[in-house]
Amino acid sequence: MSSKDFVFVLGGPGSGKGTQSKWIADEYGLGYLSTGDLLREAVAKVDNPPPGIEETELEELRRLQQIMKSGGLVDDAVVIGLIKKTTQQSDKVHWLIDGFPRKMSQCTKFVEEMGECTAVLCFEVSDEVLTQRLLKRGETSGRADDNLVAIQNRIQTFHNESADVIQHYKGKKKAIVVDGERSVNAVRADCIAEIRKLWHIPVKEGEPKQEAVKTSCCNLL
Ligand code: AP5
Ligand code: MG
Repeated sequence: MSSKDFVFVLGGPGSGKGTQSKWIADEYGLGYLSTGDLLREAVAKVDNPPPGIEETELEELRRLQQIMKSGGLVDDAVVIGLIKKTTQQSDKVHWLIDGFPRKMSQCTKFVEEMGECTAVLCFEVSDEVLTQRLLKRGETSGRADDNLVAIQNRIQTFHNESADVIQHYKGKKKAIVVDGERSVNAVRADCIAEIRKLWHIPVKEGEPKQEAVKTSCCNLL
């Protein structure tokens, strides 16, 4: 079991998971990882192999790269391995985990290997808005999965696999549902207020007051 404290950040592709959780973690000194970022870093070795890398490892990375390009999900063991390695290498205790768990088997395995999470931030954004945001980002991002076909597959994967995960956490009263279609600042204010209910984080000058909170309550408190 891990001695760390985890808040998962879930939502469709382009719902703002990275934008919000990376910024909040930097601002408040929390641990942060994105399973997507860690996987992209790993598969980048395919195009730029480090000296001495084994062909079998490259072959496996090519396989993962293809899954990501098409908008599917990579194997649970790979993702959980990356989370374990990253969190264990740091002395941070409080972690925002962006993009995990995406299917029920990941929930189960995480509990067995790392323990229960504290809460789950769930960003709700319509498929239309997700698509528009990602097509726009695709003009400059260089991400292999920011094209219309892959975006549609990612959205479908989210509905097929991750909807059950969110339902699961709603049932456990761990889901904090955030309307992710508002401005970045409005969504951020809600997330900070909710995280403050869980963990001690400092109040920053100019931070919006708690009354701004618009999260819905299948919530914790
Ligand atoms: P991952 O990297 O997690 O991609 P994703 O879930 O498709 O989501 P994105 O990172 O594209 O979007 P985001 O929600 O972070 O939004 P962002 O803040 O960037 O995963 C990639 C792949 O890796 C997966 O498809 C899968 O293959 C694999 N993978 C990852 N985790 C896995 C797991 N657990 N198991 C198995 N496989 C896994 O924002 C998007 C855009 O919108 C940006 O341009 C941003 O500026 C803009 N934006 C953000 N918020 C707002 C706002 N409020 N208003 C207007 N614009 C906004
Ligand atoms: Mg992201």
